[in-house]
Amino acid sequence: MITLRQPCEAEIIERIEETPSIFTLRLRFTDPEVHAAYRFTPGQFNMLYLYGVGEVPISIVSDPEDEHMLDHTIRAVGRVTNALAKLQVGDKVGVRGPYGRGWPMIEAEGKDVLIATGGLGCAPVVSVINYIMRRRQRFGRLTIMQGVKHADDLIWREQYDAWSKQPNTQVLLAASEGGSMWPWKVGHLPVLFEEAVLDPRNTTAMMCGPEGMMIAVVKVLQKRNFAEERIWLSMERNMQCGDGKCGHCQHGGHFVCKDGPVFAYPEVKSLLGTKGF
Ligand SMILES: Cc1cc2nc3c(=O)[nH]c(=O)nc-3n(C[C@H](O)[C@H](O)[C@H](O)COP(=O)(O)OP(=O)(O)OC[C@H]3O[C@@H](n4cnc5c(N)ncnc54)[C@H](O)[C@@H]3O)c2cc1C
Ligand code: FES
Repeated sequence: MITLRQPCEAEIIERIEETPSIFTLRLRFTDPEVHAAYRFTPGQFNMLYLYGVGEVPISIVSDPEDEHMLDHTIRAVGRVTNALAKLQVGDKVGVRGPYGRGWPMIEAEGKDVLIATGGLGCAPVVSVINYIMRRRQRFGRLTIMQGVKHADDLIWREQYDAWSKQPNTQVLLAASEGGSMWPWKVGHLPVLFEEAVLDPRNTTAMMCGPEGMMIAVVKVLQKRNFAEERIWLSMERNMQCGDGKCGHCQHGGHFVCKDGPVFAYPEVKSLLGTKGF
């Protein structure tokens, strides 16, 4: 698998408005040879570079076997992401990557999968869900849990609805503040375990979101006798080089950009939730 270590030009082929602040850029490298050689696995990320503005790490959400497009779903939160939000079809960005270690898709094959996410949409796990949906027969039961603070924070409602209609798939949603139009559970994400049907001996758990939420979910999983090695987390850190060279993303002895962003729980548990890390 090649890693592009210098930004390579990619063109925006399609721009999808997901919500007023979240958009998806579908990219294709302008050099067909680069496009043909580029490969990634779910959970890896690219550094997207906008000349004159800056560079940000963004997860790749398209399917690794889709050779036509490279999709990134982005929330506009600051300088670079707001500038990326203004781009239109035909505009160009720089892309280097893919970087990092992705989700353990090979280990998860043949097993049930639990996906637990908190916060405003979690791009790193969307790639896993899409990956499993396209290869449904290779995986067992799929349980998708999403917790949000307020009912209005839930994006991709139609997507959750579509996933819930798939065979052998359970979708569970919770909001800490529900409101009259919220038909699902009210409370923090762990309340969803009351309804989940899980076999701890045969399930790989994958999660991303705020560290406090991930710690709370790990506690529930431990009570349910999940082995720590079967619990995987995607960590987010401020990144600059994305390639294990600058130290900006360090988490104890690990570089989140290179050794992660996906880690098995035992690898990060000693510092998980520690302020300043
Ligand atoms: C491995 C990885 C994958 C990511 N994947 C995605 C993705 O798929 N989609 C997406 O929308 N975002 C993703 N992010 C987050 C994204 O990189 C940041 O939102 C982006 O760097 C913000 O840059 P900015 O210039 O727009 O904002 P800034 O102007 O730099 O900052 C805006 C605000 O966000 C905070 N902030 C900036 N970067 C981070 C960070 N990494 N962690 C926590 N807070 C931060 C700042 O403190 C500030 O409050 C990912 C981050 C990592 C590390
Ligand atoms: S971002 Fe530079 S070492 Fe990880």
